[in-house]
Amino acid sequence: MTTINDNYLKLKAGYLFPEIARRVNAFAHANPDAKLIRLGIGDVTEPLPEACRTAMIKAVEEMGDRATFKGYGPEQGYEWLREKIAAHDFQARGCEIEESEIFISDGSKCDTGNILDIFGSDNTIAVTDPVYPVYVDTNVMAGHTGPANEAGEFGGLVYLPITAANNFTAEIPSQKVDLIYLCFPNNPTGAVATKEHLKAWVNYAKAHGSIIFFDAAYEAFISDPEIPHSIYEIEGARDCAIEFRSFSKNAGFTGTRCALTVVPKTLTAKASDNSDVELWKLWNRRQSTKFNGVSYIVQRGAEAVYSPEGQAQTKALVSFYMENAKIIREKLESAGLQVFGGVNAPYVWVKTPEGLSSWDFFDQLLQKVNVVGTPGSGFGASGEGYFRISAFNSRENVEEAMRRITS
Ligand code: MLT
Repeated sequence: MTTINDNYLKLKAGYLFPEIARRVNAFAHANPDAKLIRLGIGDVTEPLPEACRTAMIKAVEEMGDRATFKGYGPEQGYEWLREKIAAHDFQARGCEIEESEIFISDGSKCDTGNILDIFGSDNTIAVTDPVYPVYVDTNVMAGHTGPANEAGEFGGLVYLPITAANNFTAEIPSQKVDLIYLCFPNNPTGAVATKEHLKAWVNYAKAHGSIIFFDAAYEAFISDPEIPHSIYEIEGARDCAIEFRSFSKNAGFTGTRCALTVVPKTLTAKASDNSDVELWKLWNRRQSTKFNGVSYIVQRGAEAVYSPEGQAQTKALVSFYMENAKIIREKLESAGLQVFGGVNAPYVWVKTPEGLSSWDFFDQLLQKVNVVGTPGSGFGASGEGYFRISAFNSRENVEEAMRRITS
């Protein structure tokens, strides 16, 4: 008899965003005249930067000419792209990251899940609560957890609450954990971490032989010069951290797909015979076996982000979304709501009005003003009583949504 991976049955609800889409579609079906504004999923709305489009068009032409046609590329990504990333995103910020430590991929969502392939199944795993659901669900799928309890927390995971009381930055755990997921600027709360906070995590990880998975998909949205963009800005992080980055949000690549993962060559973990194994070698082996690289055309588009025009155009895109975030913050505050985030991140984390749960507020906004957000409880038990509003939309939609909510 063929069997399934039973761990999937532990995932009682659908993945958060398809679940929201299901509810919104049901509402839209029943109310065909409602003009919905979607500030739920953090999907970009503004067109690709011209520099990226021009580079991709040129790459398409190259693919049409026998002399410049490309078949399989390197599984790790083309050197010309990895070099630019190493120089611009890391070395220019004082991080000792080499081009060969950068692996180009089709998304940080995929990579934060795929990375589990190279780790053992008996690691203790810590996540913040609330958290980007992919970190939890991929561990459930991999069989790293027990079943979920009433609150939706999976047995075996260590949940680190992030609340207004700790500025939405988790306290360093008192127990030993092996793998720690950190996301800064944070999805969903929009919080950022100071150098001191990250230093405390790096010290913890080094003292316990732990590995930090640092998701920096939103780093381009940091405007405060004191806030680190990369975990490698912290001394010692090369020995304890893997970093994930993406072109999705800064350059509008959610539909184009390009991201990167940094695995320093100095990073090791234990084999069952207690020997130290380089994680770079395992990840390289994994990618060479299970992945054939991102398309040449898309990598040329990503490379254009680093040209002077690409830099100016992506900066303008980020500023556009951050102006949206400012409008959302100001309007909601003026309506008497308590808001967090939205200053160095494209997400605004709103305290729901007294007496309303996250899903109550979701339903109320959907039904009364036809605005879609994301219920905080969908990101974890400690997200209850909060609501996430994404700044990724047109100015017109953001202004109209705020007008509807505040009137
Ligand atoms: C979100 O809304 O949290 C993001 O769209 C998630 C993602 O980038 O996968």
